[in-house]
Amino acid sequence: MQAPFVDPRPLYETETPLSTRVGVFGRYLVIDAASQRLFDGVTRRIAGCSPIVDIGCGVGAPLLPVGPTVLDRQDVIAGDLSLRQLQSISGDAGRPSPNLLQFDATRLPFRSASFGAAVARHMLYHVRDPRLAAAEAARVLRDDGLFVATTNSSSSRPELQDAHTEAAADLGGRLVERMSTNFDAESGGEKLTGSFLEVHAEPWAGVLAFPTVNAVLDYYRSTAYFKMAFDVEADRSRLAGRVSEILRARFGDGPAPLTVGGAIFICTGPIRADNNP
Ligand SMILES: C[S@@+](CC[C@H](N)C(=O)[O-])C[C@H]1O[C@@H](n2cnc3c(N)ncnc32)[C@H](O)[C@@H]1O
Repeated sequence: MQAPFVDPRPLYETETPLSTRVGVFGRYLVIDAASQRLFDGVTRRIAGCSPIVDIGCGVGAPLLPVGPTVLDRQDVIAGDLSLRQLQSISGDAGRPSPNLLQFDATRLPFRSASFGAAVARHMLYHVRDPRLAAAEAARVLRDDGLFVATTNSSSSRPELQDAHTEAAADLGGRLVERMSTNFDAESGGEKLTGSFLEVHAEPWAGVLAFPTVNAVLDYYRSTAYFKMAFDVEADRSRLAGRVSEILRARFGDGPAPLTVGGAIFICTGPIRADNNP
């Protein structure tokens, strides 16, 4: 069943928790050897291209360490729909960076065929029709350009998802379909094929090696599905309490690893509408 689309703007305009989630991935993500080789290889391929556009850049540093960022290189132009996320990047430098722009992935403010690479890391699932964003990425790429999109699997973090589903059902909370359903490892490829001649999906896998259930709960409270379960803070506190009980029954006082995984889509041969007769 098609998940109802959740407009991401209210979430990102009001939240700093994206930096919580990026921090969690930076601290606790442990990937397997094949995924590490994949991340390194894709990073090298993107790094060999210039200039690069980072679409939906969030807080600048990505959840997955794949590809350079606006913080690393001057030939990276990064943009996001959310001014708040962009301000979190320029704020650090003390002044706005000319390489940071507010834009919508479906209407990129660039000339056709102007980039060597485009990256859309963990963001295409927020676009109502990811095909439109893929078409825009293809439009701004040169013929030899590379497009890389990262995302989650529909079965990522099953331990937390199961605890959340059980707790929300117990307490009468709203259960929203996970957002990545709109562009996940399983469904994303077909949404790219109309815009690129070659689309390769490479799986990645790992764990978020949380040291304790409390560390999982900090992460859980930063997620959209937690925030959307109840409108009232007191109800959300009860939900977090119930999830804590369920996770403690499973993990006790020790480490609480969550299984994560997804896909990296590597696309070449941009099909630009302006190339068609
Ligand atoms: C989960 S975050 C990922 C951020 C970053 N790429 C990363 O890997 O950490 C998704 C980002 O996409 C942005 N976003 C959502 N819809 C967008 C759109 N239509 N155009 C541009 N950015 C968008 C959000 O504001 C948010 O910063």
